Amino acid sequence: MIPEEQNKALDAWQISARYWDKYRVLIAQMFAPLTAGLVEEARIGIGQKVLDIGGGSGEPSLTISCIVGPIGEVTYTDPVTGMVEIAQAEAGKRGLTNIHFRQCSADELPFADRTFDVAVGRLSAMFFVDPVTAVREALRVILENGYVSFVVWGPKEANPFFSTVTDVIDRFVESPLEDPDAPDAFRFAVPGKLAGILANAGAKNVIERRLNFQIKAEISFEQFWQLRTEMSETLRTKMAGLAPAELPIIKQVVADAARRYFESGTMSFPAEALIVSGRKPAT
Ligand SMILES: C[S@@+](CC[C@H](N)C(=O)[O-])C[C@H]1O[C@@H](n2cnc3c(N)ncnc32)[C@H](O)[C@@H]1O
Repeated sequence: MIPEEQNKALDAWQISARYWDKYRVLIAQMFAPLTAGLVEEARIGIGQKVLDIGGGSGEPSLTISCIVGPIGEVTYTDPVTGMVEIAQAEAGKRGLTNIHFRQCSADELPFADRTFDVAVGRLSAMFFVDPVTAVREALRVILENGYVSFVVWGPKEANPFFSTVTDVIDRFVESPLEDPDAPDAFRFAVPGKLAGILANAGAKNVIERRLNFQIKAEISFEQFWQLRTEMSETLRTKMAGLAPAELPIIKQVVADAARRYFESGTMSFPAEALIVSGRKPAT
């Protein structure tokens, strides 16, 4: 990615930060199975020093802080000022004292070799500028035999939480041909792609686990629509290009397509993620 595109991407995350804060309770609920999967795959336990790469509004750092306890610690990182601010404010509100915050990009981690036991990233690896460099960096800063684990989205078709909206909007707005290697939520949806990057970066025992779960919350379609259209930069941009008269039509088509995922005040979408893990080889 050229630096200008990189800056544009970070600016978009900066705007998104306020929405990730606004919906933090729902996000925590909806994506809790991803955190649980990461914790399990990276063997995170009491007393460990954990690095969170691309922590956004605070997950998985906030959850892991309670798992490692007072004798352990978490270092949260994210390159976006707004994300670091909201995550730090939330940790303060919760009185969590074992989380440290550093603003930095995954491909240039400001830590000494072998600083952490484990490094993890929830839904962030797809946005790394140079994923091989980022994974090399993660391996550099963990102890030998330590785990690196990243959770990323599986295929779009297996994730109607996203496709129910985007498939409809894409019928109305012309979308440029997607570069499969450009930063995007589904960049690592193809099985083996992120695993290959971990192996290339020098990780051993690389394992990919498919995680099928439900994205569940007590919200109506109206609340879902608002959350999706506010949180996603791609959707915000696409919707800004629509004629005002098209919006209610699109919303109705999405509502019809999404009806089966809403019942008695509960939203429940089937979802698929991949958890890709490896270990740092002993030298
Ligand atoms: C989809 S959000 C996920 C945030 C959080 N981990 C969660 O699961 O709620 C992606 C995050 O990746 C961060 N990100 C973007 N580029 C990055 C980079 N080069 N290095 C590390 N993180 C990056 C964004 O700022 C954003 O906070």
